Amino acid sequence: QETTPNVSSALHILFLLLSHSLISTMAHQNEFQIGLAGGEVTLNCPGIIAGSKLTQEKVTWKHYNTLLCYMNTQDTRIWKTFIGDRFDIKSPHKQLQVRNLKLTDAGIYTCKYGSHEVRTSLHIFNLNLSLDGHFLQNEAPELILMQNSSSPLPDLSITLFDSNNNRVTAEVQNKNRQKYIVNLKKLEAMDSGTWVCQVHSDSPLINENISFAVKVLGFQNPDLERKYAAVDSTVILSWHLNSQKIKWKEGFTGQLNWKQQEGANAHELLDFNATAQGELNETKKSSNFLFEIPEGKRESTIEVKLPKVHFNHSGQYQCQLKYQGRYAQNKIELVVMKVSANPAGPLSRGANITLTCQVSGLLPPSAYLHWERVNGTEMDKKNSKQQEVKLDVNVSAAGLWSCHLIEDSDRKISLHYLVEEAPVWINYVIIGASIGGSLLAFALGCLCIISGISWQRRRQRAKRMAQARQHLLENRTCQMGKNCFQERS
Ligand SMILES: *[C@@H]1O[C@H](CO)[C@@H](O)[C@H](O)[C@H]1NC(C)=O
Ligand SMILES: *[C@@H]1O[C@H](CO)[C@@H](O)[C@H](O)[C@H]1NC(C)=O
Ligand SMILES: *[C@@H]1O[C@H](CO)[C@@H](O)[C@H](O)[C@H]1NC(C)=O
Ligand SMILES: *[C@@H]1O[C@H](CO)[C@@H](O)[C@H](O)[C@H]1NC(C)=O
Ligand SMILES: *[C@@H]1O[C@H](CO)[C@@H](O)[C@H](O)[C@H]1NC(C)=O
Ligand SMILES: *[C@@H]1O[C@H](CO)[C@@H](O)[C@H](O)[C@H]1NC(C)=O
Ligand SMILES: *[C@@H]1O[C@H](CO)[C@@H](O)[C@H](O)[C@H]1NC(C)=O
Ligand SMILES: *[C@@H]1O[C@H](CO)[C@@H](O)[C@H](O)[C@H]1NC(C)=O
Ligand SMILES: *[C@@H]1O[C@H](CO)[C@@H](O)[C@H](O)[C@H]1NC(C)=O
Repeated sequence: QETTPNVSSALHILFLLLSHSLISTMAHQNEFQIGLAGGEVTLNCPGIIAGSKLTQEKVTWKHYNTLLCYMNTQDTRIWKTFIGDRFDIKSPHKQLQVRNLKLTDAGIYTCKYGSHEVRTSLHIFNLNLSLDGHFLQNEAPELILMQNSSSPLPDLSITLFDSNNNRVTAEVQNKNRQKYIVNLKKLEAMDSGTWVCQVHSDSPLINENISFAVKVLGFQNPDLERKYAAVDSTVILSWHLNSQKIKWKEGFTGQLNWKQQEGANAHELLDFNATAQGELNETKKSSNFLFEIPEGKRESTIEVKLPKVHFNHSGQYQCQLKYQGRYAQNKIELVVMKVSANPAGPLSRGANITLTCQVSGLLPPSAYLHWERVNGTEMDKKNSKQQEVKLDVNVSAAGLWSCHLIEDSDRKISLHYLVEEAPVWINYVIIGASIGGSLLAFALGCLCIISGISWQRRRQRAKRMAQARQHLLENRTCQMGKNCFQERS
């Protein structure tokens, strides 16, 4: 800092000489740079040293023969930019900054400074994703990579990496070296994130990673979900969207439909739309179908509650998303199970009760129904065959029976039925009823008289009793909480 003026000016001259010789040796230098369309690039003019008060000469930047900017080094205020507002000169090194790059910006840029000249070849890549990078699940995007350059275009090799940094195999078509089209496979909700397109060429040597954002709006539910429920229980069906997770704010709508089976009419239960904050707003549509929209549900979730599910409320519940005229859907298949007894009520001695376990829809091949007597023997077990939606067992002794819906060796749902032995007097009352009220006294009398009959006769009577009861109580299904009850596994 404390150098004398003499030393200072001597140093200054030396510095000027050095920098001048440096510039001379670097004249007609060639540089190579890569830019991405939409991005920006800074081109260097390497000979210019910061703060050098060199000469009265001019600095000019040109794209081919088009003059972009020019500057008188004496007065830095006289900067002239001739083309648009995308160009800027960055002091102190007089670099050229180009913003919002376009394919047409490719080519030779020349920085001229006195006798000194630096030529930079700018190679531009433009990566464009179909649908603006906003997809619904199951849509297959198309990626287009274009390049432009001053020299003959190189043959590119393209490799893609998904948001989990896994290499993606995709078919690349290129009709010419200007444009490469990559067709990707169908996307899933979890493919959202930052992908990388790796571009390589040997000559000129290019190793460029171009990252791009992929947003896939969809469901976090499995593809086809089956939900099993016992009749009269409470069922909640939920669809989890990933809209919050991927910060998808663009308005989308959707609806929830129910149909009992394939080919049946669909009933709209509710519709929803996304608010500007990305929250879902549901509106109930159906009034004759008993369901509720639960309060205080989680964000990005569509939910319905069936408080006391009927056997006939089974079927397909389909949640559908709609965005810009495109659709994505996910369905939950509800299968309802019930058990019943015929005849209902206590078991008369010597009679049979048929227990029926039934599901409301077809089961997948890996699932079946299984009746068993609790603490019973191997004889007291029975499995349904494939495609059977109903399984009967004949029960001739009191006890607790369980029907399980088994899928992949897991008990998905279990319902129990308690078969009770009828008290002896009920048997007599039933016989009385079968003969008729007027004959009741007579029948009772007879019973007293023939109290010493053989076992054989009693068997026949038991058979008649059973028939009588069946007549009286035919097809009454079990009442929940009375003889049958359910247990979830
Ligand atoms: C490539 O760049 C040149 C200028 O360098 C331009 O004339 C040409 O139109 C560009 N090609 C494409 C496909 O944009
Ligand atoms: C990307 O492609 C879309 C049409 O698919 C087009 O509207 C848009 O201009 C393209 N963007 C660029 C930067 O080429
Ligand atoms: C480009 O990305 C890939 C995958 O993420 C990585 O393996 C590679 O090192 C990157 N290359 C460069 C030049 O950044
Ligand atoms: C959402 O739907 C409701 C009812 O259908 C409607 O009143 C509201 O304007 C919609 N909001 C948006 C943002 O579309
Ligand atoms: C939800 O939609 C209803 C109309 O169905 C509307 O009154 C309410 O303001 C909406 N809520 C939000 C948060 O947009
Ligand atoms: C379903 O069954 C209940 C009785 O269990 C009946 O009230 C209702 O109307 C039935 N609904 C349909 C859609 O069949
Ligand atoms: C089954 O056996 C266990 C233990 O032997 C016993 O505690 C239970 O009460 C029995 N259940 C029935 C329904 O008989
Ligand atoms: C149950 O018994 C009835 C006769 O009471 C008979 O028709 C039916 O086939 C039997 N079912 C089974 C599964 O054994
Ligand atoms: C009871 O069921 C068995 C089969 O489990 C059947 O062989 C028998 O005939 C039935 N008896 C009556 C009285 O229905």
